[in-house]
Amino acid sequence: MFQIFFRNGTNLLLSEYITERMASMPQFDVLIIGSGLAGLSLALKLASQRKVAVITKKSLLEGASVLAQGGIAAVLSKEDSLNEHIQDTLTAGDGLCDPTTASYVIEHARPAIDWLIAQGVPFSRDASTDSGYHLTREGGHSHRRIIHAADATGHAVQETLASKVIAHPNITLLEQHIAIDLITGKKLGHRHNQCYGAYALNCLTGEVITIAAHDTILATGGAGKVYLYTTNPDTATGDGIAMGWRAGCRVSNMEFIQFHPTCLYHPHAKSFLISEAVRGEGGILKLPDGTRFMPAHDDRAELAPRDIVARAIDFEMKKRGLDCVYLDISHQPLHFLQEHFPTIYSRCLSLGIDMARQPIPVVPAAHYICGGIVTDLHGRTDVPNLYAVGETACTGLHGANRLASNSLLECMVFSNAAAHSILATPPGPSIQLPQWDESLVTDADEDIIISHNWAELRQFMWDYVGIVRTTKRLERAQHRIRLLHEEIYEYYANFHVSSDLLELRNLVLTADLIVQSALSRHESRGLHYSKDYPGTLPMAVPTVFIPNA
Ligand code: FAD
Ligand code: SIN
Repeated sequence: MFQIFFRNGTNLLLSEYITERMASMPQFDVLIIGSGLAGLSLALKLASQRKVAVITKKSLLEGASVLAQGGIAAVLSKEDSLNEHIQDTLTAGDGLCDPTTASYVIEHARPAIDWLIAQGVPFSRDASTDSGYHLTREGGHSHRRIIHAADATGHAVQETLASKVIAHPNITLLEQHIAIDLITGKKLGHRHNQCYGAYALNCLTGEVITIAAHDTILATGGAGKVYLYTTNPDTATGDGIAMGWRAGCRVSNMEFIQFHPTCLYHPHAKSFLISEAVRGEGGILKLPDGTRFMPAHDDRAELAPRDIVARAIDFEMKKRGLDCVYLDISHQPLHFLQEHFPTIYSRCLSLGIDMARQPIPVVPAAHYICGGIVTDLHGRTDVPNLYAVGETACTGLHGANRLASNSLLECMVFSNAAAHSILATPPGPSIQLPQWDESLVTDADEDIIISHNWAELRQFMWDYVGIVRTTKRLERAQHRIRLLHEEIYEYYANFHVSSDLLELRNLVLTADLIVQSALSRHESRGLHYSKDYPGTLPMAVPTVFIPNA
């Protein structure tokens, strides 16, 4: 006899529950959770042969993808080679990239770009190059190989794909719907832990719907909101990692958080990135007195990989008690800046900073999570019929540090791989699923607990689990996370869910996985730097956690 476990700890026999609560539910061949580049490109690749639902917790164009500036890395020039792109990726990943994954992704980059061009993405052109496109350069790349649409690549890509998704008759789009949890065999008491769909909260009505699907995809993006200062959008709350973990998926390499070296420092700028392409086109990092400092930290100076540049800035700021450092590209002519960086130029100007005449104040901020749900070369997770694609996945491409502009590429290559895998199996009939039960919970009395805990979590993660770590600080963070976890669990078990509560629950779990992973790594490697373990061990071993292990 199977039992249903309610959020507040009571339970019912499954047979009683099903007769009582079963009602009509939306059914699809494929449910995609998230409308970033991973989600939208996958939806378009499936829609000619499958009935697809895309749910997204805010509006269609909210997420990290639309904010991407620099571009997409791919070997498009005759002077470049696949081997060099692979080697640059492995070097940045500091021993922890999976070489098979790196080769797979980089070899599939050209068709991925060709597909985007065929969809109509207006990449910046340059008649003087052999590809016909302007290729920019970023830290850690040995060649110019970043195809881009000026400095708003993500916007150009997402607008192009979104217009096709909206028009497609086989794609149902549900905006303002936040996935709460996956529905799995384990949760239904089955012997096999297959994924059958998800529960989602309609953020406008407060209703929870049950969505059944033959295949479900986590395409929920990253987790930058776990930190106080981040380049990430509000949507980046680690939901996919947390849902996947609760469903029974392994997570890997969660300690490797990439801090982007140059986020605009201004009281009125909410998380605005100054693209690495600014350094690629000659931008120089300076102290307030105008001294250049990067050559003293690394021979590659401003074009060293991000972990090195971010740590150098952090070092200089802490040593000198600075609020920020400066990025100076004022030696380039105005027309060059307006052509290559129109978004950055106008945003800075709107805040009174003329980058053609003065340096831009910048600070590092949390930017990307290299770890996530473990997937194979098809985007499959440990749970049958559940895939993870994009930033929420850990494919092995990035290892201990992601090479700039390899992330959008990974979204494209793995959405294609997942589409092939899904299309290879005909979708069977969906099973009837129990509806969400709210009968034993009440309205929350005090939302202050949620807002207070959000703020507290983000502050101590920034202070204790930042660019430079110590065991003592990590243990402090772990202690606080345990307290927050208890409070939030109690709140979740007893009150109606809200999007803030769901996100906080996921953020705390993600933070816990980050801290546990960081504590378990007794060395410094890639993005993880510990003052207590400054050396790098001879053998590179990924951190892998198994749920309930
Ligand atoms: P996202 O684009 O973040 O999309 C995730 C989607 O999931 C969103 O629609 C979100 O609302 C939705 N979602 C999340 N949780 C839920 C839930 N519970 N229920 C329903 N929906 C949910 N990488 C590069 O390669 N090149 C660049 O130039 C570049 N520039 C960047 C600039 C900035 C400012 C930032 C923040 C990142 C940049 N990156 C860049 C990284 C890259 O943009 C991201 O890694 C990539 O876009 C992730 O795509 P995604 O589809 O996985 O996630
Ligand atoms: C940037 O434009 O600097 C961001 C590129 C990236 O994160 O890959």
